[in-house]
Amino acid sequence: MKVVIIGANGQLGYDLMRIFRVNHETIGLTHQDIEVSDRDSCTILRDIKPDVIINTAAFHNVPACEENPEKAFLVNAIGAKNVADISLEINAITVYISTDYVFDGTKKEPYTESDPPNPLNAYAISKLAGEYFTKYNPKHYIVRVASLFGVVGSRAKGGTNFVETMIAKARRNEEIKVVNDVWMSPTYTYDAARAIRKIIEKCLPYGIYHVVNSGYCTWYEFAKEIFNQLGLSQQVIPVSSEEFPSKVRRPKFSALKSEKLEKYGIILRHWKEALNAYLAEKGYMKKEWRLSK
Ligand SMILES: NC(=O)c1ccc[n+]([C@@H]2O[C@H](COP(=O)([O-])OP(=O)(O)OC[C@H]3O[C@@H](n4cnc5c(N)ncnc54)[C@H](OP(=O)(O)O)[C@@H]3O)[C@@H](O)[C@H]2O)c1
Repeated sequence: MKVVIIGANGQLGYDLMRIFRVNHETIGLTHQDIEVSDRDSCTILRDIKPDVIINTAAFHNVPACEENPEKAFLVNAIGAKNVADISLEINAITVYISTDYVFDGTKKEPYTESDPPNPLNAYAISKLAGEYFTKYNPKHYIVRVASLFGVVGSRAKGGTNFVETMIAKARRNEEIKVVNDVWMSPTYTYDAARAIRKIIEKCLPYGIYHVVNSGYCTWYEFAKEIFNQLGLSQQVIPVSSEEFPSKVRRPKFSALKSEKLEKYGIILRHWKEALNAYLAEKGYMKKEWRLSK
């Protein structure tokens, strides 16, 4: 297959590139090559004429989206429409990367693909609109991921992610306070990329897929586990989200369950194992760590 990855130098895009190029002709497009919100710029996709277009591009700084909902809609929704329209024209499969934030968090147990979305902020509303526009192309996969950590870090967060932020704070000897009343599914981009490749290679039915590592936790529990695996006795102070007031509404519980993938025999490992693999890949681990220990 000929596969195009939009946002190829992003956190997820980097791992998609290394996973797909193993056995597919894989072309990476960065923001310099394509502006998804500009229809003319998207004609590059017509010229390449791939079989699959994976769109990871997003304006996903959540507070910035709240300040600038027009831009959020341009990139996350109109951008998705531009990609879906051209995919339809050239008979390509569209893969749109979406988010756990499409849910409102009132369920209190992991959301499955059949749960109704109810986004709470401009970012999430624009991503849900992007999901709907993606459906303009019947040959689509909408892949909802969550709380990503990957070796290159998120470009939208200045090339970092939660794991790196925690390690950097510890190195600076800063007091570390982390919310213990917000639950999510930490997900390693390498594992998400492998699952996405399997969805496509196995020609699973088109539609929505939740692609997250199994298990879930609070951000505080995630931080504790990072230091535990690194063998550091770093103090982490659990706090309520009220300690970090924000104008942006966010779901307090956005853990996902990859129910459809499980049905097709694609099981993502537990987030603690994925974290271990990430820390090892980044060279932080002195010795291999196992869940059973
Ligand atoms: N990170 C998370 O925790 C998380 C959680 C849930 C869902 N997601 C979704 O997962 C996807 C990937 O996240 P990520 O962490 O890998 O993001 P990332 O590191 O910020 O990568 C996004 C990529 O898209 C490019 N891009 C941004 N705006 C674009 C535009 N208008 N046209 C073309 N390219 C554009 C960026 O390039 P520049 O940096 O050069 O602009 C970058 O290469 C996003 O769709 C996001 O909504 C992420």
